[in-house]
Amino acid sequence: MTFRLAPLLADHVGEALTVQRAAYVSEAQRYTQPLIPPLVETVAEFQADLRVAIGAWVGHRLVGSVRGRVDGTRMEVARFSVAPDHQGTGVGRGLLAGVEAAAPPEVAVFWLITGADSHDNQRLYGRAGYVAVGERTALGIRLLVMEKPR
Ligand SMILES: CC(C)(COP(=O)(O)OP(=O)(O)OC[C@H]1O[C@@H](n2cnc3c(N)ncnc32)[C@H](O)[C@@H]1OP(=O)(O)O)[C@@H](O)C(=O)NCCC(=O)NCCS
Repeated sequence: MTFRLAPLLADHVGEALTVQRAAYVSEAQRYTQPLIPPLVETVAEFQADLRVAIGAWVGHRLVGSVRGRVDGTRMEVARFSVAPDHQGTGVGRGLLAGVEAAAPPEVAVFWLITGADSHDNQRLYGRAGYVAVGERTALGIRLLVMEKPR
């Protein structure tokens, strides 16, 4: 099914948070941790994080989104989510390319955090050029930091 990418705007946040919550339940179950940040984020927090934000639509339905958090020359790719019934169909790859393309010109490095046991995600990031550069632990979950130059 074809999808369309466009900037995610304030009006889309309710729908996008609903998709994000649905998408991240599988990660919460994988790590038996219901309080991971994408699942406890509020509408207000999401609204405040739209500087670099991309959505994916199939027809009128929002099926995914991702955000970029810029800090100097680095941009974190965060809250990467695709509706469960659309996962594995290429929407994620499109969103990742879309958020990278939307980064402001000063950004030289993209980075992200993923679960150390989330091998499907790591494969996607690896194919997109990200490499593991470190580890950290949060909420009892071992995490991998990955990055790539622009
Ligand atoms: C991660 C995610 C955004 C990827 O989007 P997607 O649309 O499923 O990905 P695509 O179809 O573009 O790419 C498929 C690749 O993504 C990876 N992948 C990650 N999760 C996947 C899933 N649930 N189903 C299918 N592929 C998945 C695989 O590497 C797959 O490649 P493969 O076909 O060789 O197995 C999406 O699966 C999702 O929302 N997952 C739950 C939330 C999450 O884990 N977010 C990222 C946290 S770091």
